[in-house]
Amino acid sequence: MTTRKNALVTGANKGIGLETARRLAAIGFKVWLGARDSKRGTAAAEALRGEGFDAEWLELDVTSDESVAAASKTVAARTPSLDVLVNNAGIAPGYVAALGPDGRYERPPSREDVVDMKATYDVNVFGPVRVTQAFLPLLLASSGARVVMLSSYLGSIARAAGESQSPIVMGYGSSKTALNAVTVAFARELAPSGIMVNAAAPGYTATDLNGHKGHRTVQQATEIIVRLATLDAGGPTGGYFDENGPLPW
Ligand SMILES: NC(=O)c1ccc[n+]([C@@H]2O[C@H](COP(=O)([O-])OP(=O)(O)OC[C@H]3O[C@@H](n4cnc5c(N)ncnc54)[C@H](OP(=O)(O)O)[C@@H]3O)[C@@H](O)[C@H]2O)c1
Repeated sequence: MTTRKNALVTGANKGIGLETARRLAAIGFKVWLGARDSKRGTAAAEALRGEGFDAEWLELDVTSDESVAAASKTVAARTPSLDVLVNNAGIAPGYVAALGPDGRYERPPSREDVVDMKATYDVNVFGPVRVTQAFLPLLLASSGARVVMLSSYLGSIARAAGESQSPIVMGYGSSKTALNAVTVAFARELAPSGIMVNAAAPGYTATDLNGHKGHRTVQQATEIIVRLATLDAGGPTGGYFDENGPLPW
């Protein structure tokens, strides 16, 4: 048993998830690095331990009920509560292949692949639902847990339909729109128990997800995530934010 606060980050073996885990560990959390692959997960945890942090790989494939259930059992056997859950794991199949020479996304809705869309929703929407449900007993056992959902500007219908139109990335974008709705739903249910649930838009960040075409660093991307993961009591819940404040749905 540990006296540190516990944080779980899904998809934490690289990219925004790994940097989120690093930053939470740097402010004193014990971090559980959710990762589906043992080699990648243990390597990431070892790297953070090498930096002096309290970090552990947790086998966790967000698309598998069995894996998520086993992961929550593992954590429950080691600690009485979970203080922070960052639902970070996400995919955008076909995204990089659809980028044109100028970096613009060139796959219109009429050519989106439904198989890709289903896979995307399984990770980006049903994943956070599965993980949040499975870890809820541990979150409820904390004195005011925080849940952060990794959304995107592409999830904003207001942006897609508004004047400064975002690129049309139908499968991935609409998965984040659905995740925004999931965020509000959990936030409403869990508000009476003091759990705050918010969605974060990290901005277009250089990671494997986009073939490192993003213009932001993972350090910049994680600013809003860490802020929402460490909100004081009385802070917002059921919101959608980037580092500059609330975003239009
Ligand atoms: N990069 C951006 O510009 C950007 C912008 C807005 C939002 N986001 C969101 O930020 C989050 C992190 O993305 P990223 O840019 O850091 O991407 P990334 O570098 O590709 O990392 C994605 C992470 O998710 C994991 N993952 C994928 N499927 C999984 C599954 N079934 N179970 C568990 N883990 C799984 C990956 O593990 P493997 O290594 O095993 O594949 C990896 O650790 C995503 O939700 C993404 O949608 C990113």
